[in-house]
Amino acid sequence: MRSPITLIPLLAVALSSAQTGPQCDVTKEPGVKYFDIRLPETEVPQDLTTYICQAQRIPLPMDVSYHAVAFEPLIVNKNIMHHMIVFGCTNPFSEDPHDCKDADFKCRHFLVQWSMGIPGQICSHPNTGFRLGRDSVQSLSLQIHWDNANLAPGMTDSSGVRVYYTSRLRQHDASNIQVGQNDLQIPPGVAGFAQSGSCSSNCTQKWLKEPLYLTRAHIHMHYTGDGGLLELFRDGQKIATIINVTAFDYNKPPAHYFPGPVQVLPGDSLKLTCFFNTRDGDKYRNQTIYWNEGSDGEMCYAFITYFPRVPNFDQCLQFDVYDICAPVGDLVGGCNIYGFTRAFGNVLADSILTHCGGPSRNQSLGHSLVQRDTDNIHLEGLCSRKCQQAIHQMTDHPCMENRLGLLMRRVYLPTYSIWETVRVTIDAASKYCAD
Ligand SMILES: *[C@@H]1O[C@H](CO)[C@@H](O)[C@H](O)[C@H]1NC(C)=O
Ligand SMILES: *[C@@H]1O[C@H](CO)[C@@H](O)[C@H](O)[C@H]1NC(C)=O
Ligand SMILES: *[C@@H]1O[C@H](CO)[C@@H](O)[C@H](O)[C@H]1NC(C)=O
Ligand SMILES: *[C@@H]1O[C@H](CO)[C@@H](O)[C@H](O)[C@H]1NC(C)=O
Repeated sequence: MRSPITLIPLLAVALSSAQTGPQCDVTKEPGVKYFDIRLPETEVPQDLTTYICQAQRIPLPMDVSYHAVAFEPLIVNKNIMHHMIVFGCTNPFSEDPHDCKDADFKCRHFLVQWSMGIPGQICSHPNTGFRLGRDSVQSLSLQIHWDNANLAPGMTDSSGVRVYYTSRLRQHDASNIQVGQNDLQIPPGVAGFAQSGSCSSNCTQKWLKEPLYLTRAHIHMHYTGDGGLLELFRDGQKIATIINVTAFDYNKPPAHYFPGPVQVLPGDSLKLTCFFNTRDGDKYRNQTIYWNEGSDGEMCYAFITYFPRVPNFDQCLQFDVYDICAPVGDLVGGCNIYGFTRAFGNVLADSILTHCGGPSRNQSLGHSLVQRDTDNIHLEGLCSRKCQQAIHQMTDHPCMENRLGLLMRRVYLPTYSIWETVRVTIDAASKYCAD
């Protein structure tokens, strides 16, 4: 017999998208029960993109171990639902619904990712489950992405996820890993435009002590996503096509189950290639599209379920050619993005403006160049050794190289008003001063 445990009053009748899609046999097994993690009825802002987060303690005795064995999306407002993720957190805490903040990303262990249009329940592979309870996940953090494309007023939502669990533990702990590319740049008016990112050989070598078995996956892209390919490589040779989706539809992304699980050995790599179309029909775009959390930006990820669980091995991505497979906050290609951005605001910009301009910062060359007062170029200051050193201190940094450097210039540095002056100074130095 199932005993539903609900954390919050159900304010609306949930429309289960599972009514039509695949059902998990395991939910009918004796001893399998469920609880829900759902928003209370919450107002949907009139914004294109909203990420709403909420955390709940698991409403079960936490001195016992459980396995979550199936998940069922409970969709109340289909009009604005884009995706939901449930993260597991080892510390017990609760938080009312709020706009997601950095702090919400402290629970990186994700249990389930669901995108609008994936039909049915999400079943775990036989003999596996996601561990909850004692010495493990104590609370769940629900992240919902609302896409209010029409900026409609007065909408509410109380969607969430039903978690089926059992205290009869399975043989293996399951987990999920996100594979893909964080650096996307898709020009306007193209079709079949490929962008790819891998969980590299170096990363699997570093993280895996034994083989992994992949049991389920789906590809996550936004509106201009057109197709996706997930491939397995060993010793540089392709050994399997795991997923090959053509005619990808954002509203109906297919889920893929691997009943005979796909074995991944330490040193193997998993390569995801996403194909984008900005040329045809509704997908037509007249501007370059970059990676962006909003549904007006793009993504290229595969969410893959595997066993046995490797603690903290939740993300295995790339930014450009750089691996991101270490705990959050580590270096990407020798660059700590936030540390470098802070250093720019605290010292690097100041040092360049001080050494490259006139006697005071106000008279710095950058300012006069910005004002197109190019006759006043103070080449002596600009090309002085101290100025060159100050510039190189910034531009030789790994954060300023390759596509990371472009990301810095496009996204992070422009948040400082002084960047424009610094940029012009750097560009002038490279133009007018012999190296
Ligand atoms: C893999 O790791 C080795 C040793 O740390 C390093 O020399 C090599 O550059 C790495 N390969 C890639 C593609 O990052
Ligand atoms: C993916 O499927 C398409 C259409 O069936 C096919 O043309 C293509 O060769 C496949 N790609 C791979 C790598 O299997
Ligand atoms: C690009 O598309 C947007 C929205 O579809 C439109 O408002 C804008 O005028 C277009 N710009 C050009 C240069 O065609
Ligand atoms: C430099 O700028 C600061 C602030 O904008 C101003 O207070 C100061 O008087 C200026 N100094 C000179 C020499 O123009």
